[in-house]
Amino acid sequence: MNMLIVSYILIIHIYGIMAMDCEYSSREYQVVLRPDLLINSFEAGVMRIFEELDRIEDAKRIPFKLSRSSLKFKNETLVSYTHDLSRNSEDFFIPITFKSRRKKPTEAADIVMKMSNADPAITCTPLTVSENYTNSTKIKFELDIHAENGFLRAQSAHSYTTDLSIDFNQTSSINISDILIDAATKMTYSQEPLIIVPKSTNKFVVQTAEFKINLANEKVGAMIMFYKKLDSIKSEFSFRIKGSTVDRKVLLVAQQLVIELSQITNIALYSLIQPRN
Ligand SMILES: *[C@@H]1O[C@H](CO)[C@@H](O)[C@H](O)[C@H]1NC(C)=O
Ligand SMILES: *[C@@H]1O[C@H](CO)[C@@H](O)[C@H](O)[C@H]1NC(C)=O
Ligand SMILES: *[C@@H]1O[C@H](CO)[C@@H](O)[C@H](O)[C@H]1NC(C)=O
Ligand SMILES: *[C@@H]1O[C@H](CO)[C@@H](O)[C@H](O)[C@H]1NC(C)=O
Ligand SMILES: *[C@@H]1O[C@H](CO)[C@@H](O)[C@H](O)[C@H]1NC(C)=O
Repeated sequence: MNMLIVSYILIIHIYGIMAMDCEYSSREYQVVLRPDLLINSFEAGVMRIFEELDRIEDAKRIPFKLSRSSLKFKNETLVSYTHDLSRNSEDFFIPITFKSRRKKPTEAADIVMKMSNADPAITCTPLTVSENYTNSTKIKFELDIHAENGFLRAQSAHSYTTDLSIDFNQTSSINISDILIDAATKMTYSQEPLIIVPKSTNKFVVQTAEFKINLANEKVGAMIMFYKKLDSIKSEFSFRIKGSTVDRKVLLVAQQLVIELSQITNIALYSLIQPRN
């Protein structure tokens, strides 16, 4: 291809990213935990992790504090969704995951559509929310930072979360094209309306422990979560720093905290994986 055309496309591409409001609105730091820590008693596992957090606080290498008094345990119900069976997964330009969560039995469930990739340009596909759902939809463009045995790996995640009506019982199909009107045209080859269905009739219980931590004098919401699906286990410590501009000191403490935690073999699952050179 002609050099001029290549740079023209590049410029459009870069301009597109900048114009698309794909600035990170939050950063989530994550450490995968050993499932055996939480599988028998979630609460006892959380206390075990708190002991390690206390140790990091007491060592005073970094300005970090744990707020034990803010701890709240919750159970959510989670249902994985997938595109309906008449559609081939090859129809999508990029892999997309769907899930529905109900945080409290008395609250409406939501539906989350998420694209993740190491390349932010791939996840920066802005979609149009139907006016019927603008009030109930939150859009997040997030940097996910995974710590594994002292190493950091970053990934970009773009998600659309819509609160559905209280009658929605996490068993029926959902027409995503009703909510995100250009989802089918922007993300699939066939451009057929995007209908999603529950992956199975199982509803999973996600056990969560939410609490506050303090990083360089900034209060940050943290979480430990655990759930077991048919084919997978998720067991994770995470915290989210909100805002598109964040104090550099806070970011450094955040990184240092997950780097330290990810190397503690008693609690971090990937603490023993040898780094590749
Ligand atoms: C969450 O569910 C588990 C069983 O799956 C139960 O042991 C625990 O007490 C529940 N926690 C809350 C906060 O409801
Ligand atoms: C919004 O909802 C109303 C009532 O259900 C429906 O008549 C209308 O067509 C919807 N509008 C859009 C843009 O989907
Ligand atoms: C969304 O919220 C605005 C402002 O609160 C309100 O005027 C509008 O009617 C709402 N739209 C829908 C579809 O509920
Ligand atoms: C869930 O809702 C659908 C309709 O919205 C209904 O057909 C179905 O029976 C409900 N299922 C349960 C388990 O309540
Ligand atoms: C899904 O929603 C789109 C856009 O509102 C509509 O054109 C299509 O007919 C709907 N499909 C089904 C199966 O409800």
